[in-house]
Amino acid sequence: MIKRAIYPGSFDPVTFGHLDIIKRSAGMFDEIIVGVLKNSAKKPLFNADVRVTILEGLLKEYDNVRVEAFEGLLIDFAKKMDANIIVRGLRAVTDFEYELQIAQTNRVQYENLDTVFLVTDLNYSYLSSSIVKEFAGFGGDISKFVPASIIPMIEEAIKNKKEN
Ligand code: PNS
Repeated sequence: MIKRAIYPGSFDPVTFGHLDIIKRSAGMFDEIIVGVLKNSAKKPLFNADVRVTILEGLLKEYDNVRVEAFEGLLIDFAKKMDANIIVRGLRAVTDFEYELQIAQTNRVQYENLDTVFLVTDLNYSYLSSSIVKEFAGFGGDISKFVPASIIPMIEEAIKNKKEN
């Protein structure tokens, strides 16, 4: 049986922390589907199609990784993709309570679904998409947070958001 896992998230924008989790999980499972959430509560910096394109560009060398947008419940997306493993990164104990609750809710609703937590690399344990947006919003250097190739897009999107 193929071990197909979903790594879901908002990825607005993707960070080195996300990429580290994707690369590590690609070595653990046969297939990884990076699931990009469309209907995030917050107004995103990039729409889901742009986030998918960015991730595809950054992950093209990984043959067993693909990127798909999804909306609605993660359990429905997992069923549709025929995947029964969810991968999430854990940065600190503050992530744990929320992640545990979501993982348990998902498992109550879909008992074949297991959530696997990967401990975030120490280098990225402070990092989040919100921190990237906050830092870039004040003109900070985000080269330690995200790949150089996507910095101009992030800066441009933040500038446009401020103007609107
Ligand atoms: O990167 P994020 O924003 O922390 O990712 C959160 C995500 C996408 C994993 C979570 O919000 C999610 O799965 N959303 C889809 C709706 C859902 O199924 N929620 C969980 C049950 S309440």
